[in-house]
Order: sequence, then structure tokens, then C-alpha cells
Amino acid sequence: MAKMMTALGKAPLGNLRVYDDDATRLLDWLPAASLDAIDLLYPDPWPKKKHWKRRFVGAANLSRFARVLKAGGRFRFASDIDSYVNWTLLACRDHGAFAWQAEDAAGWHQPYEGWPGTRYEAKAIREGRRPAYLTFIRK
Ligand SMILES: C[S@@+](CC[C@H](N)C(=O)[O-])C[C@H]1O[C@@H](n2cnc3c(N)ncnc32)[C@H](O)[C@@H]1O
Repeated sequence: MAKMMTALGKAPLGNLRVYDDDATRLLDWLPAASLDAIDLLYPDPWPKKKHWKRRFVGAANLSRFARVLKAGGRFRFASDIDSYVNWTLLACRDHGAFAWQAEDAAGWHQPYEGWPGTRYEAKAIREGRRPAYLTFIRK
């Protein structure tokens, strides 16, 4: 957030809002079908099985996403933790409001077009992990 505010100080944008708090509160505040896209980039991985229930992706937050996304809207999820990628694929399949856009197996590891990367991602790659980039469409 601090890095973004510094960049914005140098090159202001007139149409940007930032919110540095719990994203679930923002999602509950937004009107239904108001967003074209949501990017969830490297959410806290909670790699230990006993902590999986703390992960941001779950039925409740997918329902929040489903409510605020327009039909045909895009949900992108990037993670370097294989168990979280599998978890998200299963959670979206079971939820039912999202269609996974996968063209082939290699495509999972193809960064999004125009992708600038994130600080967490750079550290994960340095440490030898391979990120996955999932895209879902709100049905
Ligand atoms: C692993 S870091 C990744 C940060 C950044 N996206 C990146 O790739 O460099 C996960 C971030 O999610 C934030 N976070 C966790 N739960 C959140 C929530 N409910 N609402 C907003 N942010 C949350 C954490 O504070 C942390 O900064």
C-alpha cells in the first residue's frame, strides 16, 4: 500500500480508491453486480493443514465475490502454494458460481498478460516455488 501511495504521489490517477483494511468489509459494502474483476494475488497461504480454514478462499468469501461481480466478470487467483491452488480449484467447483478458464495444463503457470509481478511472488520464485495463475469467470 505504501509503495502504491508513493507511486501515486509521482503520477496521480483520478479514478482510484484504496482501502487498507479487511477486504470482506469492503465486499459487503459494495452493491451487487458492481465489479468487472477481482484479483486475489498471493493471499496468505496458511500452508499447514490445521490452518487451512483461515484461508481467504472459502464458501463465504466466494459468495461475497459472486454477489459483487457482474455476470461474466473475472476472478483471478495467484499463489505459489500448490495445496492452496488445489484448494481454490475445488472450492470454486463446489461453489458453482465460477467457471475455470483453463486452456491447457501449461497455462496454469503462464503469468497473466501484462503482469507486473508482486513482491511476495518475487520472493517465492527466489525460493524455488512455481506460481500458478488461475482465472475464473462469474457465471
Ligand atoms: C502473502 S501477502 C501478499 C501481498 C501481496 N499481494 C503480494 O503479492 O506481494 C498477503 C496479504 O494479504 C493481506 N490480507 C490477509 N487477509 C486480508 C483481508 N481479510 N483483507 C485484506 N487484506 C488481507 C495480508 O495483510 C497480507 O498483506
